[in-house]
Amino acid sequence: MSASKRRIVIYPGSFDPVTNGHLDIVRRASVLFDHVVVAVSDNSLKHPLFSLLERRDMLVLALKPEIKSGKVSVDSFSGLLVRYAVRKGAVAVIRGLRAVSDFEYEFQMALMNRRQECRVETVFLMPDERYTYLSSSLLKDILRMGGDVDGFIPPVLIPKLRRKISKTPLP
Ligand code: COA
Repeated sequence: MSASKRRIVIYPGSFDPVTNGHLDIVRRASVLFDHVVVAVSDNSLKHPLFSLLERRDMLVLALKPEIKSGKVSVDSFSGLLVRYAVRKGAVAVIRGLRAVSDFEYEFQMALMNRRQECRVETVFLMPDERYTYLSSSLLKDILRMGGDVDGFIPPVLIPKLRRKISKTPLP
């Protein structure tokens, strides 16, 4: 298939850090689209624990096989998401819906994005039920307090997370 015909989708987020819930969405999206760009947002308003580079590196580590197969790539962006999506030649943006509580915010964002750029659709995917109560903040809290994060994050990332959390005082 020629590069111009490839149906590219953007999966944006903070990924601070990536969890198995995010990876589940990436894998579902890669069945529906030719190529998924996982795009780390440089949104400093969220005061991420990990730097942009660290968040990208963790995604690259977690998605090694998918990146190798050419189905997925990892990138970062700043500024408006829809402008970035157009620059990338994407036809859509993927967002995960974990529960009804996600809906209002996601609906608002999808409509505002459409208002800014009608060429980019938003597609919602639901992660596996195992991840519907998972978030990056909860994961960091559990780790900080020495809890069990098995099954919520790729094992290869756990030492990095523990190191970072032990070195970072609570705000
Ligand atoms: N599994 C686990 N957790 C998930 C998840 C899943 N499948 N889907 C979402 N989450 C969690 C995340 O871990 C995150 O948790 P946290 O708040 O504890 O860190 C939370 O849900 C929401 O995170 P995320 O999906 O990363 O969205 P966000 O709100 O941080 O960022 C952007 C949303 C980046 C898409 C949005 O801010 C954006 O588009 N920014 C660019 C500027 C722009 O265009 N603004 C106008 C928008 S209309």
